[in-house]
Amino acid sequence: MEVIILKNSERCCLEAAKIAVKYLKDLDTPVFGLPTGSSPLGFYRQLIRMHQEEGLSFKGMTSYNLDEYVGIGTHHPASYCTFMENNFFKYIDADSKNLHLPNGMANDIVKECSDYEEMISNGGGIDLQLLGIGGNGHIAFNEPGSSLTSRTRVKTLTDKTRQDNSSAFESLDHVPMHVITMGVGTIMETRHIVVLAFGADKSEAVANMVEGPITSSCPASILQMHPRATIIIDEAASIDLARSDYYKWVYNNRPHWQRS
Ligand code: GLP
Repeated sequence: MEVIILKNSERCCLEAAKIAVKYLKDLDTPVFGLPTGSSPLGFYRQLIRMHQEEGLSFKGMTSYNLDEYVGIGTHHPASYCTFMENNFFKYIDADSKNLHLPNGMANDIVKECSDYEEMISNGGGIDLQLLGIGGNGHIAFNEPGSSLTSRTRVKTLTDKTRQDNSSAFESLDHVPMHVITMGVGTIMETRHIVVLAFGADKSEAVANMVEGPITSSCPASILQMHPRATIIIDEAASIDLARSDYYKWVYNNRPHWQRS
């Protein structure tokens, strides 16, 4: 696990965007796993800016989103489909047929989950997976207690997550109970994972993810077992880490070939 602590969220998002740019430039058909939430917004903004000002192209990109609510249509203002369209997809030159989200309105929701898994693996898997982290240590919608080898499936949200995500809905009562989410095992198969987390509200979850025991009580802690996980956080999110000085030391002294 590489932990990068930077002054603020803008610097973190730029760092993550530079990693994504490398994949976009080095691979003809890069495959990204994409998150929603407030944490990746600056990352998307950076990529949009690079597309508009520097000619960065997304034509070869395929993407798979992590999750979607069950029971609300793609055009619902709070759907993750709408989120991705409004915050990223409509600004870039990606081919829309290559941009995938689970369909929370599928008639056969169980089949939708296994089809989503199959589509990802038939496409050769995910090169770069971006992630946020929930205040309770969830990744995608894998709530605490999720199997650490789980695959794409339907999950029931905790009340805390429903409350955290309620601002996009008319009221808490309108937040769906159920979601489709890529599993922890699905996420662990991606080749490079970048986690973004900002603010003191995330500091405990970040410490559990990076330095806590590996446990389904903090699904993000399994990322300690991933061969290539890059955790990019701001100062506020780092305050509960016991080894933050060491992580900064490592970053400031990284070998020349690791610098972008
Ligand atoms: C939701 C999403 C997660 C995201 C989390 C944190 O639960 N399903 O993918 O990481 O929210 O969101 P935020 O970045 O807004 O704190």
